[in-house]
Amino acid sequence: NKGILQVVQRAKEAFLSGRTRPVEFRLQQLHALQRMITEKETEICTALKQDINRSQYDTPLLELIGIENEIKLAIDKLAEWAAPRSVERNLLTLRDEVYIQPEPLGVVLIIGAWNYPWAVTLQPLVGAIAAGNAAVVKPSELSEYSSLLLRALLPRYLDKDLYPVVTGGVSETQELLRLRFDHVFYTGSSSVGKVVMEAAARHLTPVTLELGGKSPCYIDKDCDVRIACRRITWGKFVNCGQTCIAPDYILCEPCIQGRVVECIRQTLLEFYGADPKCSPDYGRIINQRHFNRIMGLMEGYTPVVGGQSDSSQRYIAPTVLKDVPPQSRLMQEEIFGPLLPIVTVSDMDDAINFINEREKPLALYIFCTDKKAVKKMIEETTSGGVTVNDVMMHYTVSSLPFGGVGQSGMGRYHGKHTFDQLSHQRACLVRKLAMESVNLARYPPQDRRRALLCRQMMYFAFVPKLKGLFICYHISFYFTFLFH
Ligand SMILES: *[C@@H]1O[C@H](CO)[C@@H](O)[C@H](O)[C@H]1NC(C)=O
Repeated sequence: NKGILQVVQRAKEAFLSGRTRPVEFRLQQLHALQRMITEKETEICTALKQDINRSQYDTPLLELIGIENEIKLAIDKLAEWAAPRSVERNLLTLRDEVYIQPEPLGVVLIIGAWNYPWAVTLQPLVGAIAAGNAAVVKPSELSEYSSLLLRALLPRYLDKDLYPVVTGGVSETQELLRLRFDHVFYTGSSSVGKVVMEAAARHLTPVTLELGGKSPCYIDKDCDVRIACRRITWGKFVNCGQTCIAPDYILCEPCIQGRVVECIRQTLLEFYGADPKCSPDYGRIINQRHFNRIMGLMEGYTPVVGGQSDSSQRYIAPTVLKDVPPQSRLMQEEIFGPLLPIVTVSDMDDAINFINEREKPLALYIFCTDKKAVKKMIEETTSGGVTVNDVMMHYTVSSLPFGGVGQSGMGRYHGKHTFDQLSHQRACLVRKLAMESVNLARYPPQDRRRALLCRQMMYFAFVPKLKGLFICYHISFYFTFLFH
């Protein structure tokens, strides 16, 4: 496909023209992106209504406000982020300029997912623009309306050559991946993540992989189960469960399982009414393949809440399953749909073991009021991120790096982390052609005295926290030594 090759070539040339280098240009592009979100909010909400029947109120709440905040933050902080960062000097470079200069990488390929088609493409884009890169955006073909709208809108607001949108399916993505980029930023499944990384490896291109996995949610028996279940119910069933950081399953002791089920049932009634199918706040599954996949996960189990479905609308009711065996299919793969299994454990240690026996999750949720126990659970497990006594909210804190670990992904973003992720941290040491006598210690011909001197200077060079006076004393000592 000549079209794709040309688009990428144009982005590369536009980057090489140097116009993304001035911070003013980046700010202007960020302002334009901000304008796009403000002016086109209604169209964006309509597209998501068409894609997954998402509530018109949810799109700003789940995606647009977050993107706007990221843009605002980048605009506010860009001068600071892009400035050279002075770092500590050692004895050998005491009189030099020593700094880290963040600089653009080049052309970034951003491959988005369909569940939050705007957040997962535009949030990385904000960082790509801020860091001075060009970026080719490839939205998911599954969220068709959103993807076409993004392709129509972006060139109307941003530099057409620098930030093109390529639409299409698997073959277009494969074609893009054959080309050489300076970074690939992918959001989606672990299986496609491996394909992306393999393709990038052929060009030694670094990747950011925002993947998923089964995020556990532990409820301690002594916490306020009612409030815990309200928060969990929201996080699990918002966007119809199609959220990478949704709580995938609940871990709790058998003694509170019945109460957990009841509290979720009550909350569902409050949130979505007696028939969630008629609720404007409850969405649909993205396509038939995923509908069948999710229905398949339930096979052989009788839900205690929900379980109804309508294949013609790709509707699956909010569903809770209790006493789910750990070896069931429901507990093997990421659910990514409105099914909430409860697995019972004997205590917190059992929960910790359960989590550690599985792949490292993208998120971990702990509902517990005992601070010591919370600390223990955080210390003895791992996950991309943790929220205690709520779900998903760590995602909204832009000072926290968002990303996975192990099978849940690599690399991090949000706020300054996106800027850093899509920048090269260039190490800069600027010396003067003076004080040549100091260098004698490292030049040949070497003898015992020089070798000793060199060794001592190097030694002090690696002791960073010396008191100023102490350093001065030693410098004068060495200089005296040298000149005699
Ligand atoms: C979308 O949701 C509404 C409820 O707000 C429902 O009545 C309608 O049937 C749904 N449309 C589709 C195509 O599922």
